[in-house]
Amino acid sequence: EILVEQDGRDYSTFRLPARLATVYQCQQLDDLRQVPLEPKPRVQGEGSNTVFIGDELPPLCRFVASTKELRWLDDDRALLHVEAGHNWHQLVCWTVEQGLWGLENLALIPGSVGAAPVQNIGAYGVELADRCRYVDFFHWDSQQVQRLDVSDCAFAYRDSVFKHQLAGQGVIVAVGFTLSKSPRRVLSYQGLDKLPANCTLQQVLATVVTIRQSKLPDPGELANCGSFFKNPLLPEKIAQALQLRYPAMPVFAQGKGQSKLSAAWLIDQAGFKGKKLGDIGCYSRQPLVLVNHGAGTAEQLLQLIESIQLQVQTRFGVALETEVQLVGQLSHRASVSL
Ligand code: EPU
Repeated sequence: EILVEQDGRDYSTFRLPARLATVYQCQQLDDLRQVPLEPKPRVQGEGSNTVFIGDELPPLCRFVASTKELRWLDDDRALLHVEAGHNWHQLVCWTVEQGLWGLENLALIPGSVGAAPVQNIGAYGVELADRCRYVDFFHWDSQQVQRLDVSDCAFAYRDSVFKHQLAGQGVIVAVGFTLSKSPRRVLSYQGLDKLPANCTLQQVLATVVTIRQSKLPDPGELANCGSFFKNPLLPEKIAQALQLRYPAMPVFAQGKGQSKLSAAWLIDQAGFKGKKLGDIGCYSRQPLVLVNHGAGTAEQLLQLIESIQLQVQTRFGVALETEVQLVGQLSHRASVSL
């Protein structure tokens, strides 16, 4: 199905005004084979990690098939094959209803199954990479589906092969997960550590949902794309030196001589929490999340991003990278002051 002249606000949970000339909505593999490749379409799911800026946007391609199939590997472990268009949180809830452990810490993450491997979604001590067995990828060039084993996906913190070698090369059409009937509790993250050691799957799900709802805005009520920046990874030595100067600074050891800083803390310290630039704001309960109060513009958003990056760089010498994908360019930039 080809949709024309679409409102960008319906395709990005950040809801900036944008015009999408063409959207290819594909229900099956054969539909993908009909998609014109000049100009190269941009592939996305529900738009919960995408912000449109500017008017010259490439055609958009969405693969919306959403079946799932469960196959038992042995008495305990099951392989779940899910097509890319399935909503992520609905999948997590379904696995919990089936009594299958594995995805519960990833509850309430907005977006589709197909988008999840791209940035290797992660929360509360679990990443998609920990539960993923394979990713099925349709290549524009060969028009064939290739099954990538998890070891070929180059998964890392909010990163994967789909952001690098395979970026723009095709479409994730399905993901395979390994889940289990026996518990695989991951309760180390702050907030989950208060649960009893023998807690149920439902308790973990409910706790994750409660924590997220207490600090993250619901995109259905207040437009946002979750964490706007990545937590910076630095050599351990530099992180230790920073912590000597700022004893309250949270530092998380990552192994291999790397440490992760809290972007939320850096942004908070730089004084942006609760600040607004026009209708674009830095969320008061979690400053890592930028929000659009309704009439926000791309100019305001870009200005706020740059101010945050500049202040954090100046104060702490740390570069903040955006986690959200910014699509398009502004032909002109009006200057707005904070
Ligand atoms: N903090 C502050 N001020 C605040 C809020 C938080 O200083 O107002 C500091 C605190 O030190 C706190 C720390 O930030 O302990 C971490 O906060 P939180 O547990 O909310 O985690 P986060 O680092 O802000 C990351 C992910 C989230 C994920 C949570 C839970 C990234 C970019 N974000 O956020 O993922 O849900 O951990 O695991 O890694 C997303 O990617 O969109 C996302 C929401």
